[in-house]
Amino acid sequence: MVDVPDSPVALITGASRGIGRGIALELAALGTHDLVVNYAGNETAARECQAMCREAFGSGKDRRVEIIQGDISKADDRERLIGHVESEFGRLDLLVNNAGIAPDVRADILEATEASFDRLIGVNLKGPYFLTQRAARLMMRSTPLEKTPRAVVSVTSISAFTASINRGDYCVAKAGLAMMTKLFAARLASEGINVYEIQPGVIATDMTGAVKEKYDKLFADGLTPINRWGQPSDVGKTVAAVAMGHFPYSTGQVFEVDGGFHLHRL
Ligand SMILES: NC(=O)c1ccc[n+]([C@@H]2O[C@H](COP(=O)([O-])OP(=O)(O)OC[C@H]3O[C@@H](n4cnc5c(N)ncnc54)[C@H](OP(=O)(O)O)[C@@H]3O)[C@@H](O)[C@H]2O)c1
Repeated sequence: MVDVPDSPVALITGASRGIGRGIALELAALGTHDLVVNYAGNETAARECQAMCREAFGSGKDRRVEIIQGDISKADDRERLIGHVESEFGRLDLLVNNAGIAPDVRADILEATEASFDRLIGVNLKGPYFLTQRAARLMMRSTPLEKTPRAVVSVTSISAFTASINRGDYCVAKAGLAMMTKLFAARLASEGINVYEIQPGVIATDMTGAVKEKYDKLFADGLTPINRWGQPSDVGKTVAAVAMGHFPYSTGQVFEVDGGFHLHRL
């Protein structure tokens, strides 16, 4: 293990692009944490995110940002990821379970395949579940830093409670991830680690790029009270608020970052 630094460390999964990159950039702008940017395969995007974070840190801030490849659905990769954070930084203060995938094909629930179900559960639920287990153990081994909260944040979706019958596998995985937040919140409170869930609405990223026209039309028809596409920075600012320690007496909390999508209106 290297010397324990006096700055906190945040690991963000799936941070090369989209929402994860937005989270990394907001944390970099905050300037409090060293950052570990995980990605699955797009090294170019990860390096771009690294460069943008360095710029956001600004001069005068002696912070590190590292990129690391790892498929969170694979046990060996999860071990390597946490091992790397421990050997390079000696501690972990914030885990953001952001990495996630949509089904390759939006198939009716009566037709959708087991292969797609297994893939979605592997990346969107099993991966963060066991990564959180390992990350929590590392957090518990890390000497707490004064004024720095220790926390886990998982990015679920409005799909955790909204039935989309052409991507049941995605909805089921996100609903499971919502329960995972409650479980780890209950378990880790006594360890001084708070656990939160963010439910984004429709956010402009590569994931929604394929269905942009559909959502453009829904927004035009008044889909959400705050009637615009969500941006990765909208989610990033919520994570930054957690990283700042603004919710010390809240755990298991769900943050709806959805422009008010969840409101029932009459
Ligand atoms: N966009 C939305 O409207 C929306 C709404 C609600 C919730 N969400 C959730 O927000 C999260 C991010 O979504 P996004 O829209 O930003 O997606 P995105 O633009 O497709 O980016 C996905 C990110 O996850 C990484 N990734 C994919 N599979 C991975 C794996 N097995 N292991 C590690 N990293 C992996 C990708 O890495 P590479 O670049 O290397 O491929 C990339 O950084 C997901 O959990 C998604 O379900 C999105």
